[in-house]
Amino acid sequence: MEIIVLPTARQVGAAAARIIAAVVHTAPDAVLGLATGSSPMEVYRSLRTLVEHGDLDLSRTRGFALDEYVGIPLDHPQSYAAVIAREVVGPLRMNPSLVLVPDGRDRDVARAAERYEAAIRDAGGIDVQLLGIGTNGHIGFNEPTSSFASRTRAKTLTPSTRADNARFFADADDVPTHCLTQGLGTILEARHLVLVAQGSAKAAAVATAVEGPVSSFCPASALQLHPRATVLLDEDAAAGLTLRDYYDHIQRQKDRLAIP
Ligand code: F6R
Repeated sequence: MEIIVLPTARQVGAAAARIIAAVVHTAPDAVLGLATGSSPMEVYRSLRTLVEHGDLDLSRTRGFALDEYVGIPLDHPQSYAAVIAREVVGPLRMNPSLVLVPDGRDRDVARAAERYEAAIRDAGGIDVQLLGIGTNGHIGFNEPTSSFASRTRAKTLTPSTRADNARFFADADDVPTHCLTQGLGTILEARHLVLVAQGSAKAAAVATAVEGPVSSFCPASALQLHPRATVLLDEDAAAGLTLRDYYDHIQRQKDRLAIP
């Protein structure tokens, strides 16, 4: 796992955007795994700047969202379909028909989940998967005790996740209770995982994921099993790391030797 600590949330976003842009420059029809929530917003902002300056063309790039609430109306502003359309597809000038979100409205959630897995497979798998981390260590909506072998499926949100996400809804009771999420097994198949975290609220979860034991109790610790995982943190999110000096040392050495 590569751990990079940067001074500000904006720099975290810019660094993740550079990784994504490099992949798309090499393969314009690359497949991106897209996260929602607050964490990736600086990434999308940086990508938007590149697109607007003509330095990046995402019009042929495909995308798969990590998750969606079950039962939320498609036109609800907090459905992840609406968030992806508003924050990603529109501003980044992506082709809407190339960007999919799990269908949380299908009454047959198992069928919707299978369709989503098949669509990812048919696209040739995900090249770069952008991830945030929940305060309880979830990635996607794989809540603690999720199987590392899990595929896209319905999950029950924990009370802590519903409380964390209440800020997006008028009333805490409006936060959906269930979701459809890519599984940890699905996420681990992406060729490059890029996790971004900002702010002190994430410090404990980040430390457990990066330096704690690999455990389904902290789903993000699954990144330790991946051959190519990059963790981009601002100072506050990195505050709980005990090997912080070592990670900085590695980055300095890389810069000195110009290792990409
Ligand atoms: C969202 C997602 C979640 C969030 C996580 C952090 O698609 O998959 O894992 O990344 O809950 O949310 P924020 O960034 O809002 O703190």
